Amino acid sequence: MTASDSQVEGRGPGAEITRTGDPDYDFGGACFDLQKHEDREIVRFILSQALFGEATGVYCGKSLYAAGSLEAARFYVRQAKQELSHLQLFADIFRTLEMKPMPAHWVIKLLAAHNNYYPLKVLMEHAIGEGMVLDIFKDLLLQTLPDSDPRVPVIKKKLRLVCREEEEHIAWGEKETRRLLAEKPWLKTPYYGLLELQMSVLPLLVRAFEKRGSDHPVLAHLPGFLAHVQRRVYEQGKRLGFVPEERPGVAQRTAAMGLGIAMFARSQIARSESKLEKIYIEELGLG
Ligand SMILES: [Fe+2]
Ligand SMILES: [Fe+2]
Repeated sequence: MTASDSQVEGRGPGAEITRTGDPDYDFGGACFDLQKHEDREIVRFILSQALFGEATGVYCGKSLYAAGSLEAARFYVRQAKQELSHLQLFADIFRTLEMKPMPAHWVIKLLAAHNNYYPLKVLMEHAIGEGMVLDIFKDLLLQTLPDSDPRVPVIKKKLRLVCREEEEHIAWGEKETRRLLAEKPWLKTPYYGLLELQMSVLPLLVRAFEKRGSDHPVLAHLPGFLAHVQRRVYEQGKRLGFVPEERPGVAQRTAAMGLGIAMFARSQIARSESKLEKIYIEELGLG
């Protein structure tokens, strides 16, 4: 199934769209010039991270093993197909712009690292990770690729399709995060610690951009964009009920991060438990 096929099929099971198609951060009309070598190198860097993200995004299919309902199983199969088609769409964008991808930045590799512990995968990948992917695609790429370039309208059409599907992925991730938190309220503190840790590595990625010249009109926006992404993720965590309304002091934050690290360490040795063969009769309504 391609991205466009899934549009025809309609929304994924249980997915409520929580974000609109409008950009949240305003780059104030700043654009890249796809004729200029330096600008092309920055765009190549961004697209290379996106391509890597989509390649690892396909592993959302691994959540199928831990899916606790037929609804979840259906969603992960559907999402894995969509991520595969996104990978292909980004490859098409590279070809259209006559660019070759470069290796992913280590922060992206860290943020996209796979793990087998389902509660952690749901929060880090399905809810927060997908949210940041959408920030990059919708806010950064859709605004800063220049419409004046004849290759860009087709690229943006593809990106808009990807964005709509990423919105579904976030909606699912948030729904599943809420369910896990209701089932296991003790996840709240390690979840909060993991979010703090994740937010603390983001500035390192911005630094990688700054090395490429912070006097560029788009790059001049990066500190503001970073602050916007961080603010949005904290708000997302508050909505989901695991980020405190008031940011706690350093001691409490450090303790939460410790629990987050412990959970991450556990994820490195944890084995997901398969579910479907235990629940299928009930799930099919044949019990
Ligand atoms: Fe994707
Ligand atoms: Fe996605």
